[in-house]
Amino acid sequence: MSGRVCASDFEEEAKKILPKSIYDYYRSGADGQNTLAHNLSAFHRWYLIPRVLRNVSSVDLSVSVLGQRLSMPLCVAATAMQRMAHPAGETATAKACKAAGTGMMLSSWATSTIEEVMSAMMAVQGGEGVLWMQLYIYKDRELTLSLVRRAEKAGYKAIFVTVDTPFLGKRLDDVRNRFKMPPHLSMSNFSTASLAFSEDSYGNDSGLAVYVANAIDPTISWEDITWLKKHTHLPVIVKGILNGEDAVCALNYGADAILVSNHGARQLDGVPATLDVLEEVVQAVQGQCDVYMDGGVRRGTDVLKALALGAKAVFMGRPVLWALACQGEEGVTELLELLKEELRLAMALSGCRSLSEVNRSLVRKVDFPSRM
Ligand code: GLV
Repeated sequence: MSGRVCASDFEEEAKKILPKSIYDYYRSGADGQNTLAHNLSAFHRWYLIPRVLRNVSSVDLSVSVLGQRLSMPLCVAATAMQRMAHPAGETATAKACKAAGTGMMLSSWATSTIEEVMSAMMAVQGGEGVLWMQLYIYKDRELTLSLVRRAEKAGYKAIFVTVDTPFLGKRLDDVRNRFKMPPHLSMSNFSTASLAFSEDSYGNDSGLAVYVANAIDPTISWEDITWLKKHTHLPVIVKGILNGEDAVCALNYGADAILVSNHGARQLDGVPATLDVLEEVVQAVQGQCDVYMDGGVRRGTDVLKALALGAKAVFMGRPVLWALACQGEEGVTELLELLKEELRLAMALSGCRSLSEVNRSLVRKVDFPSRM
């Protein structure tokens, strides 16, 4: 028995294990970290309104995400440089996802290659595993497309293109710590030191902020979604939408789905919690595409609230890093199974036997009395 009973237990334990600059990098939000706090507290501003006497002896959590059947509507978000958390890094996460029957989004900035993460997942017994590729658009477009081609060839099922990072948000601890990757690691999908984030020095700034300013394309615009669509047969999901107008643009430029995300509150501080803009985005797309969400998901009841507000599935980032740090693949499996059971219980106690019974009537905004 690990003694861990909820997602936040993993963070407490991981904090004791990880070197400070690595813990800080994973934990931080941008600037004053207001959005970081909102992503969590937004879930407290919604009540669940349960229905009773509905025979909930059996609850089906399964869902179809981008054409793949998953055991639950909770997937693993892209988080960078996972070998800083555990020597097996992304390969451990991929195995745990397959064992739990859910999908994993691999970061462009992984410390394991696209191909080795797929092989690790395939080696786990059972059905097909589901991997999606998160993509940053580099100034070097051929390099960008080479990542897409490698993901296609390896059997990844979709491309999540990040659109909220023309520059890196200012994470104060990373500046203070002059964050850079430990010397034995690199961004494994790249072959030169400058692209693999393994230069000796990045001056007095956050090394990653310098890396992004050097390598990532700040000129990207909506036409680049069309460009990407033209170069891949995989579904393209726009990651980083926070309002209805941009959601409609994403559709108009060919996006296959939308991920409502504020990048774990690591980019522009002061933006709303993702839960608070989810409904606006869902209404704007009028059922023309699926909408996914990440940001602040820590409990089964959080997942349920996001689904009731219209998300087809949600993604979880930081807790997976904490679980990796605690116990590698086993830790991530434990976390995913724990959340799955929390969601099952939340659905049963709400009177929902399947996800088709989760709808808007399940949640009501808490009406805070105005203060005089
Ligand atoms: C990576 O995507 C980061 O936000 O640091």
